Amino acid sequence: MIICVCKAVSDKTIRRSVEHGEVISLRDLSRETGLGTCCGKCVPAARATLAQALSALPSTAAMNRDLGMPLGAPAAC
Ligand code: FES
Repeated sequence: MIICVCKAVSDKTIRRSVEHGEVISLRDLSRETGLGTCCGKCVPAARATLAQALSALPSTAAMNRDLGMPLGAPAAC
């Protein structure tokens, strides 16, 4: 589904950008795709899609647990 008609940005593009770690905020998304920089009507839908995509990411705690690391342990360099 197209979220931003002006810049032809789809929900799939937003999800993919989040999954690849390219985007963690609406500002990032706007900078990467131009979303919201024309009429701005897409911003509420983009914000909702972005929040949904971010919430679907595994949390750091879950990743640490999966790696067998205790919560709060410093990252190994
Ligand atoms: S629909 Fe996104 S800027 Fe117009």
